[in-house]
Amino acid sequence: MALLIGVPKETSAGEKRVATVPDVVEKLVKLGFSVAVESGAGDAANFADDTYRAAGAEVVATATELWAKSDIVFKVRAPSPEEVALMREGGTLISFIWPAQNPELMRQMAARKATVLAIDSLPRQLSRAQKMDALTSMAGISGYRAVIEAANAFGRFFNGQITAAGKIPPAKVFVAGAGVAGLAAIGTAANLGAIVRANDTRAEVADQVVSLGGEFVKVDYEEEGSGGGGYAKVMSEGFQQAQREMYAKQAKDADIIITTALIPGKPAPKLITAEMVRSMKPGSVIVDMAGEQGGNCELTVPGEAVVRHGVTIIGYTDLVSRLAKQSSTLYSTNLLRVTEELCKTKDGVINVNMDDDAIRGLTVIKEGSISWPPPPPKLPAAAPQAKPAAAQTAAKGHGHGGGEPMSAKSLATVFGLGALAFLLVGLYAPASFLSHFTVFVLACFVGYMVIWNVTPSLHTPLMSVTNAISSIIAIGALIQIAPPLTGAQADRPALLILGMAVLALALTAINMFGGFAVTRRMLAMFRK
Ligand code: NAI
Repeated sequence: MALLIGVPKETSAGEKRVATVPDVVEKLVKLGFSVAVESGAGDAANFADDTYRAAGAEVVATATELWAKSDIVFKVRAPSPEEVALMREGGTLISFIWPAQNPELMRQMAARKATVLAIDSLPRQLSRAQKMDALTSMAGISGYRAVIEAANAFGRFFNGQITAAGKIPPAKVFVAGAGVAGLAAIGTAANLGAIVRANDTRAEVADQVVSLGGEFVKVDYEEEGSGGGGYAKVMSEGFQQAQREMYAKQAKDADIIITTALIPGKPAPKLITAEMVRSMKPGSVIVDMAGEQGGNCELTVPGEAVVRHGVTIIGYTDLVSRLAKQSSTLYSTNLLRVTEELCKTKDGVINVNMDDDAIRGLTVIKEGSISWPPPPPKLPAAAPQAKPAAAQTAAKGHGHGGGEPMSAKSLATVFGLGALAFLLVGLYAPASFLSHFTVFVLACFVGYMVIWNVTPSLHTPLMSVTNAISSIIAIGALIQIAPPLTGAQADRPALLILGMAVLALALTAINMFGGFAVTRRMLAMFRK
């Protein structure tokens, strides 16, 4: 029998998102589910009850009624104790839970024999999980909104302008921490025309910063900042000292600082000291996104915007809710993707398959028994964690090359076998073949060495340029167009050969000029 998915109104103070939007209701109905929505659930995100009705949902008057009739509940925030009490025995819940921080909630839900899928526990390293990754979609939105908040509090343009009234310099934005939110902030600020600089302890993000229009500022101290899985680690005291000096310089120069530095499970690193705030120009703005973890700036008041030493310090912790329509739409699409994974048969019934790595990671309680933390995933991990909205072109962990370099031993074996094969060919093949073959082997080798070291985000322009270069065929056509030099060639049906050569030249010219033009356009997307 088809299950009923229920969407209650969020009860946390200030939460404006709703877990399912009308467009997604339609898709859930197509998957075979019935959908019920609590009256007013979408109001704060501008989705009226009638739009839910039109999409095929039933609108239910009260939360009690909704929780009682729902087989599966979709929520944004972890449920309150009152909501857990309304939960149907043996029901299913998909929501943010943060099991490590909420052991009591986990016990209460287990007591209701619930099955709970925590969207925050998704194994993000699986490439298949990206479409379900609500942490990434929400962080991307918050990075965008951080720039909008900064622009709102800042008394000047972001882009430089030359007007009749004088020259206006572009705003200088410094972003601390280039993770999901940071990259979205860099892309947004660069698009508004600001000069953007950014720093992160993980040096591998430098390429992504540049590809989004920013400049990566290094700390003058050698230390690897990656703690694995695309996350950072706590840095040594020496590094922190060097970083403070660099940040002090940036603070003096920047008009806007956006801080997003986060080390999972640790308090936010204090990067902007009171002294640095004092050194900033009056009218400057700091948006500290790490307010909930204690803030990256010493003077941040979480949840509030305050003015200190003439600098506006914004510590809002509800940036995502401030774009409620957008974030509800992306969040509910993430939940839809989870539902598709749970209901592959498209008959309105779910199968919480614990052998599936993604579902296993998400499931923190299965029929009343706590299954968190999960064992490490069995599948080989994909390139770490993909990046958000503006940063979608660049992925966290995008570095060099397409895989692990060969070991010295296997490299020697490959070369040895190659040399042997070459010797055999040399012994038996005619001399003319051998010279072509040598060029071919060298071309393969050089091509392999060049392409292997190209950053993955540049693979598409690379393909189009190699496509253009492959028009080397033009040389063959030109040779055929030239008048035959020897009697032997004059015997051939010269006109036919000439016609075919001209045609080949025309076609290859399209390939050549088109290829270079496309490459230029693609590379322009990476330049500012
Ligand atoms: P993330 O883990 O993708 O990025 C954090 C980045 O900070 C990483 O690239 C890491 O290498 C870097 N980092 C860590 N320590 C550093 C240091 N000492 N110096 C420089 N960089 C350092 O995290 P994500 O998803 O981008 O979130 C960023 C922050 O934004 C978090 O604190 C998160 O809680 C917060 N957030 C705030 C919201 C709000 O409404 N205020 C909404 C969503 C996220």
